[in-house]
Amino acid sequence: MIYSRIIGSGSYLPRNVVTNDDLARRMDTSDEWIRSRTGIRQRHIAEAGETASSLALEASKAAIASAGIAAGDIDLIIVATSTPDYIFPSTACLLQAKLGIKGGAAFDLQAVCSGFVYALATADLYIRAGQNRCALVVGAEVFSRILDWNDRGTCVLFGDGAGAVVLRADDKPGIMASALHADGSHAGILSVPGSVCGGKVTGDPFLRMDGPAVFKFAVRVLDEVARETLAKCGQRIEDVDWLIPHQANLRILESTAKRLGLPHEKLIVTVDRHGNTSAASVPLALDLAIRDGRIKPGHKVMLQGVGGGFTWGAVLVQM
Ligand code: UT7
Repeated sequence: MIYSRIIGSGSYLPRNVVTNDDLARRMDTSDEWIRSRTGIRQRHIAEAGETASSLALEASKAAIASAGIAAGDIDLIIVATSTPDYIFPSTACLLQAKLGIKGGAAFDLQAVCSGFVYALATADLYIRAGQNRCALVVGAEVFSRILDWNDRGTCVLFGDGAGAVVLRADDKPGIMASALHADGSHAGILSVPGSVCGGKVTGDPFLRMDGPAVFKFAVRVLDEVARETLAKCGQRIEDVDWLIPHQANLRILESTAKRLGLPHEKLIVTVDRHGNTSAASVPLALDLAIRDGRIKPGHKVMLQGVGGGFTWGAVLVQM
């Protein structure tokens, strides 16, 4: 039986840190409002020359180094992003070239804030099917480029960054179970409803969100999908060592842990320092907690995504 295991992780944040007070100097908001509603204290914002592929490259180099493999061992790259460098080629192909490798499969996966969880579950299935042996799975975003900086209800929430893992075939799991879902009838509550046509933007190129509707939806589905994923592999909530939900809002994270009956100490939180980095948030949090020694070999980690589409999903991983 072939399984897949995470053998390395890495992440990267742009150097430019923007605090709530920095935002309060530019718009009608306050550190107190942002902190109390979201838990966010600061976010990293990409400089003009930084793109999803350049952030992905730094995260990938760190993941490859920690996995102790050569870049040439990678035969599948999946980049989860909603803010690609170009319409095409994919950010995954650009990343492949930047890594100096060629020949393996490379594609982008677009499931907004669930993107990394979707990509990890997809790479696991490719490996289990025997199609590939060593996958680089990345979440990379520059959401700062699609924010309306005049809309205080959304622009204070997001940040830029990238996280990556190396997933390799193994005779032991690894990825224990996954569950992915979508309901396109909720497309309107979180979207960037624009496109490019004839050299011009059509529709609206900025992120629009019904915050309270997203909040309610997220709390419900994160609870359901965690239970579904555990049931698929015969695990109980008490077996989970760490919970890493998509880092959108501290109140969503805390409600999810509470609904699941998991103590606060098992929750990994990075939203305070990173803001919501969409598809990058889960691998950024995973890498941080591996590197600071909280997540150890053998630990079971529940990764969860929820975002535009609407999409949601979870992956239970044994490290
Ligand atoms: O990846 C998934 C993406 N997104 C999410 O997960 C976000 C989910 N939703 C949320 O996190 C919350 O709904 C928000 C943080 C976005 C908003 O919190 P809320 O408690 O639902 O506030 P609200 O939208 O109901 O707004 C309350 C008030 C409004 O003023 P009035 O109409 O009550 O006078 C807003 O105009 O807060 C005002 N407001 C702000 N005030 C200061 C909205 N944004 C700001 C701001 N600073 N940045």
